[in-house]
Amino acid sequence: MGLKLGFAYRIIKLGGSLITNKNIPYSFNEEIVRRIAREVKKFYPLIIIHGGGSFGHYEASKGDKIKTVIAMQELNLKIMKIFYDEGINVFPLPGRFFSIDIVKRYLQERLVPVIYGDITESGKIISGDDIAILLGKEFNSRVFFATDVDGVFINGRVAKEVNSPFIDDLSSSSFDVTGGMKAKIQKILENCIEALIFNGRIEGNIYKALEGKDIGTLVRCKNDNK
Ligand code: IPE
Repeated sequence: MGLKLGFAYRIIKLGGSLITNKNIPYSFNEEIVRRIAREVKKFYPLIIIHGGGSFGHYEASKGDKIKTVIAMQELNLKIMKIFYDEGINVFPLPGRFFSIDIVKRYLQERLVPVIYGDITESGKIISGDDIAILLGKEFNSRVFFATDVDGVFINGRVAKEVNSPFIDDLSSSSFDVTGGMKAKIQKILENCIEALIFNGRIEGNIYKALEGKDIGTLVRCKNDNK
């Protein structure tokens, strides 16, 4: 299933703006998350990363690290319960404890790691995007960024492919503390990995993306000869 793509691993980052309502603090998009679980469950090995949206970003923007860490645990728990309920053997890994080694250990146990953007004891924000990119590099796999927009917009249209960081996409939420779309593209290109940015709100899109269908925007550096 899904082998057409040619990458062994499916690494998918669920953006905070997809799994929460970014305009209302602590609003969780339960129905969307349930549908996502149903769309990803046919793929393995699978690694999930999720962002903070109106849980983590909201608290982080107010500056309380303890409230932020609690908000992220709360959001992760909601996601874990739904994914497990849908038959996926998920296992959580808070971003502050992330290591490639732990991810490999989970995979050896046939578990699906669910890693999330986080905050450290000293108040440093850990971006889920950074973790997703590190994993893409390590496992030599495309990273799937499921977001709430159709892709990267250039001159009002979704670009099929982007190879340069000089774009003017303004689709970031008001309390995003990790930089939104522009930072995402820059990091993908700097690390020279391949990533697909697409709209996870549209039913079937996550399945299509993981299967290798040509949706959204493919971001990759030009000297990437994969
Ligand atoms: C943010 O993670 C984590 C915190 C703010 C604590 P991300 O930066 O990966 O989250 P999203 O996807 O942009 O919401």
